[in-house]
Amino acid sequence: MPLSDQNRSHRRPPAARRVLAAAVVLAAAGAAVPLVAQAAHTSKARTPTLAAAAAASGRYFGTAVASGRLGDSTYSTILDREFNMITPENEMKWDATEPSRGTFNFGPADSIVSHASAHGQRMRGHTLVWHSQLPGWVRSIADANTLRSVMKNHITTEMSHFKGKIYAWDVVNEAFADGSSQHRSSVFQNVLGNGFIEEAFRTARAADPSAKLCYNDYNIENWSDAKTQGVYNMVKDFKSRGVPIDCVGLQSHFGAGGPPASFRTTLSNFAALGVDVQITELDIAQASPTAYANAVQACRNVARCTGITAWGIRDSDSWRTGENPLLFDAGGNKKPAYSAVVTALGGSSGAKQHRNSRTATPRPTSSACALPSTYRWTSTGALAQPANGWAAVKDFTHVVYNGKHLAYASNVSGSSYGSMMFRPFTNWSDMASAGQTGMSQSATAPTLFYFAPKNIWILAYQWGPWPFIYRTSSDPTNPNGWSAPQPLFTGNIPGSKTGPIDQTLIGDGQNMYLFFAGDNGKIYRASMPIGNFPGNFGSSYTTIMSDTPDNLFEAPQVYKVQGQNQYLMIVEAKGAHQQRYFRSFTASSLNGPWTPQAASESNPFAGKANSGATWTNDISHGDLVRNNPDQTMTIDPCNLQFLYQGKSPTASGPYDQLPWRPGLLTLRR
Ligand code: XIL
Repeated sequence: MPLSDQNRSHRRPPAARRVLAAAVVLAAAGAAVPLVAQAAHTSKARTPTLAAAAAASGRYFGTAVASGRLGDSTYSTILDREFNMITPENEMKWDATEPSRGTFNFGPADSIVSHASAHGQRMRGHTLVWHSQLPGWVRSIADANTLRSVMKNHITTEMSHFKGKIYAWDVVNEAFADGSSQHRSSVFQNVLGNGFIEEAFRTARAADPSAKLCYNDYNIENWSDAKTQGVYNMVKDFKSRGVPIDCVGLQSHFGAGGPPASFRTTLSNFAALGVDVQITELDIAQASPTAYANAVQACRNVARCTGITAWGIRDSDSWRTGENPLLFDAGGNKKPAYSAVVTALGGSSGAKQHRNSRTATPRPTSSACALPSTYRWTSTGALAQPANGWAAVKDFTHVVYNGKHLAYASNVSGSSYGSMMFRPFTNWSDMASAGQTGMSQSATAPTLFYFAPKNIWILAYQWGPWPFIYRTSSDPTNPNGWSAPQPLFTGNIPGSKTGPIDQTLIGDGQNMYLFFAGDNGKIYRASMPIGNFPGNFGSSYTTIMSDTPDNLFEAPQVYKVQGQNQYLMIVEAKGAHQQRYFRSFTASSLNGPWTPQAASESNPFAGKANSGATWTNDISHGDLVRNNPDQTMTIDPCNLQFLYQGKSPTASGPYDQLPWRPGLLTLRR
């Protein structure tokens, strides 16, 4: 059902529309157009995707999707490359799903949900109770008991149909009046009274307890606005009385000036009530890069702002015809606002690492990089000493999270292994003074990553009730906030004194893979459909590489090379004098085959021969720097850095007592 002109224009305040009119005149003069096209081309090669950039801080980046456009290949290509959250633009609204009483049609919405599940995207349900796009038969109900049962039946039937498939539901949309702190007039308000919102949320919680329940509205971005205050007071009241509400969606349909200066304050004030906040329908008249960057930055500055959804993909897909408010032009090209968004998300990985490293050389940003065939590195000295009386910190796993380095490691105290976390730090030079917290339940040789499809952090490790174990968390910076241990792999391997050790995990579009070693010259792989993860890989595996024990010793790591159709595996080896070094292999698929790349002690991936390190002869177990913490284990070949363990060349004694310390290699180009 088309929205009337009157309805559409109320989205933006009059002032914004005046600015917009001026911008349209400027654009019509023609000067801006060629610049737009050029910028879109030069930014293309080096920028990660919107979803990957957002995932770098644990957020999602979504879009509204119209089911009728899924068959347009330009549209669906951008959708699946850039976005990992989908809101159906109209397909879940009341007029689409229950056009007459008790007759439900979920076909168009189902087609979007199945697209999302096939492409690892999550769904926002939009929307259950709204005065607009509401069929006439509901509008004309005058009896409270009838309307109450109709509303509850609609919520329950629709949510049950999509049960388990929706990350968050906009349970009630736009219930507040423009310019006021009161509810707007609607059939729900007029017949059921103020309590209808609460009734809707209570009904929703019962229908699908796994979905987050959100209130969604527009013009609630400016903190001092009466409408913002009205919604804020409602959420506060709900929270104080235990009415189920988990999130507030701020639609963010902005005029050309973008968000109000108080936007971040508004987001953080809502978040302080104990709800998540999301930018749910972002579009900005004329799509100024600065305006977009400001909107994204506001979200990024608020820990509980969990994601951003643009209200459409290309300008030609937008409901705001003629305002060109989106990130892609009608031809599907990235507009200047696109790179502004990626930068504001902090996802332009190279730039951030340069600032954080004393040794990196700035890279040109206009071309993708390939892995070299000969590696040459520069190294820091030891970046930190073990705290808390530990003899060693080792086996590092590392991601960039909220713009900071987050590393976990094994530690050795006395003769036993434990595990620890470095408190997040900004510069590598801060690692020495970053707090070190031991874990009450140890996670030896840990692997840390964000599993984007389920919005959950994973810490996998060895030695526990099963050979490999995992625990989950929503806050990776809390070393003692991980869930109870779950089995990750239960199999055993012949011919190994250690049994399965040094797991690493990586996902592609279809599967999650587990790679591991056994100090015995073999590398093993298990896999499962990505939809089953997190879960148990079971006991079966494939032996994918075989050599002497020294040549394929331990600590395998597998990564996706950003911008290349290539995966990189590194495996720790023991050299002629038992010194540790890494050999590398590449493949175009995680199923292999793996081709040796820099795989000898004299031309290693990283070792005494090429590390540039003077404080250690060993380059041992660690992790390539991942700016994107997600399960794709993506590394940036333009800015390769390796957090490794090294030790003094004069250290001796039993292996478990060796004084391992962290160091950082940076690839020289
Ligand atoms: C809009 C759609 O984009 C249009 O296709 C439709 O004609 C009208 O609705 N607030 C909301 C969204 O919550 O559902 C609206 O979507 C935009 C404003």
